[in-house]
Amino acid sequence: MGRYVQIINGPNLQLLGRREPAIYGTATLDDIIGSVRERFGSIEIRHMQSNCEGAIIDTLHGCGFDSDCMGVVLNAGAYTHTSLAIADAIAAIERPVVEVHLSNIFAREEIRHRSLIAANCAGSISGFGAESYALAVQALIDYGR
Ligand code: DQA
Repeated sequence: MGRYVQIINGPNLQLLGRREPAIYGTATLDDIIGSVRERFGSIEIRHMQSNCEGAIIDTLHGCGFDSDCMGVVLNAGAYTHTSLAIADAIAAIERPVVEVHLSNIFAREEIRHRSLIAANCAGSISGFGAESYALAVQALIDYGR
């Protein structure tokens, strides 16, 4: 089996394209994942989206001890700001996680300035729209070298 990157998208992100486009842009989640796959042709990109905290945690556990997994690109959506359970899952696993946001969370409401997951991640990318995902995959490739 080849090496792969696991992308995880959390709550409400399946609505990209029609969800608050002034903040999140007009690209759909399929557009974003498709363009990442095109860009990193030689690397398998696995993707899951869920609105459920537990499903996100199960996916982190599933790939987080797999030596074929280069790392995880995680947009935890609003769970970023609330979920100690996802923060704990990131701390528990062995593979690196890059936190991603389409919007610049530090330029938004104060409640979004706090990330419960950031300290347990290898790093964070926030504010580059759909491009944030490709930057995160590139970061994982470089980080793993
Ligand atoms: C988000 C930012 C979060 O604050 C928000 O709850 C989201 C999307 C982003 O990608 O900009 O759902 O993670």
